[in-house]
Amino acid sequence: MSSPTSSPTSGPAYAADLVVFGGTGDLSMRKLIPALYHSDRDGRLAPETRVIAMSRGGLTDDDFRGKVDAEVRDQIPVDDMALWQRFLGRLHHVSVDVGGADRSGWGALTRLLAGHEQRDRVFYLASPPRTFGPFCRELDEAGLVTPQSRVVLEKPLGHDLPSAQSINDEVGAIFDERQIFRIDHYLGKETVQNLLVLRFANAFLEPIWNSLWIDHVQITAAETVGTPGRRGYYDHAGALRDMVQNHLLQLLTLTAMEPPARNDREAIRDEKVKVLQSLRPIAGGEVERFTVRGQYVEAGGMPGYLDEPASTPTTEMSRRVETFTAIRAEVKNWRWAGVPFYLRTGKRMPYRRSEIVVQFKDVPHSIFPGGTPNRLVLRLQPEEGIELHIMAKEPGAGEVTLKPVPLSLSFGKTFTTRVPEAYERLLTDVLAGNPTLFMRRDEVEAAWRWVDPILDAWKADRALPEPYPAGTTGPAGAHELLGRSGRAWHEEEL
Ligand code: BG6
Repeated sequence: MSSPTSSPTSGPAYAADLVVFGGTGDLSMRKLIPALYHSDRDGRLAPETRVIAMSRGGLTDDDFRGKVDAEVRDQIPVDDMALWQRFLGRLHHVSVDVGGADRSGWGALTRLLAGHEQRDRVFYLASPPRTFGPFCRELDEAGLVTPQSRVVLEKPLGHDLPSAQSINDEVGAIFDERQIFRIDHYLGKETVQNLLVLRFANAFLEPIWNSLWIDHVQITAAETVGTPGRRGYYDHAGALRDMVQNHLLQLLTLTAMEPPARNDREAIRDEKVKVLQSLRPIAGGEVERFTVRGQYVEAGGMPGYLDEPASTPTTEMSRRVETFTAIRAEVKNWRWAGVPFYLRTGKRMPYRRSEIVVQFKDVPHSIFPGGTPNRLVLRLQPEEGIELHIMAKEPGAGEVTLKPVPLSLSFGKTFTTRVPEAYERLLTDVLAGNPTLFMRRDEVEAAWRWVDPILDAWKADRALPEPYPAGTTGPAGAHELLGRSGRAWHEEEL
């Protein structure tokens, strides 16, 4: 299976042992276990496939199954108890002390995997990136890395280019690049995969998908949530590392890439890397002109970033970190010359919405007053769908009045099949050994290469991020970023 768009319900994979480091953590309990249950229900897990959670927790298999039963069953929710019991039977737990003197956990894992060397082995590292290297070394020392093994790395992959390179080196010392699956869960979302189909399986878009017809592109990932309880992570991350370096740049690459010669893992990733390499660097004095940083402050009964409940104290880093950013990017190539790509993401915005808006140019000569240019909206969240806004005449005698109306495709309404969660799709692909929707080393590093100079300039800037009231669309600077050229963010009510 090499198609990025083939159905995730296609056939069961081979028997596999999926070992999840950080197996009792938030990601595992909220995303991975539910995704695996759905895969099982849809017949995509081979009968022998096992899920082995590793943590420091000191749990037995039964304790872990009880924990999953108590914490996950209602989230899904489960309608077939017999199937749920069968699924729980696949779960195991091994306690491990990474880098510590106690080697018993590695012995227990070795015994559990012994005799199953022919199975696909997937080591899923849902743990902080500093543990990636040590885990891989420990696995190697324990002799657990077989030719059929794969390793899955969760983001963030480092905090800048050198740290990403060193993680890639450490993991690359044990696993071949073909065995390494770097997750960006945005790539598992239906609309993201549909973007490739929309662009490359329809003839009408390609001739107008360029600077002759497109005025600009907006990529927004707005969230209503704040960062309660996450300050320890978020102070060091900020919106640029947390969302732009990975999710938003991935959306940009898929929007801007050239048609690949084949629907093939390397052909698609080759084209994506070229886009990242064509991004015009933003550095030094330009950073102030082309980027905006914001931090939400208390408003409408919602706390500001600095007042969110946290287990770590407020520091200078907390005051300086951005919870919102907007950037004017440019892809320097023939197709996109002069077309700005505006990126925007923030916490505590008034709505939860992720979308790509392709804003077309105005008609070359207008014979009707009141027209607005066409717009294509690819919505990832909250409801996945595609809308093409065209001009139509409002019915009625008398003067011709124009109105933009959407031709709209709602996945939920058009297709009756369940839309799988991003992690379900990605886990299916890992188990099938298909890396198309995962980031290659050169992609991750090219993204950091573009982001690092912005981070450096922000670090050197003594100004704090612009405050914006919680529940609003970001600081004034974000609106000026587009306003300067007579443009505005797409804020249409859903
Ligand atoms: C994660 C970020 O990668 O993506 C979070 O670390 C963010 O801060 C999340 O909330 C958003 O994902 P989604 O799928 O809800 O848009």
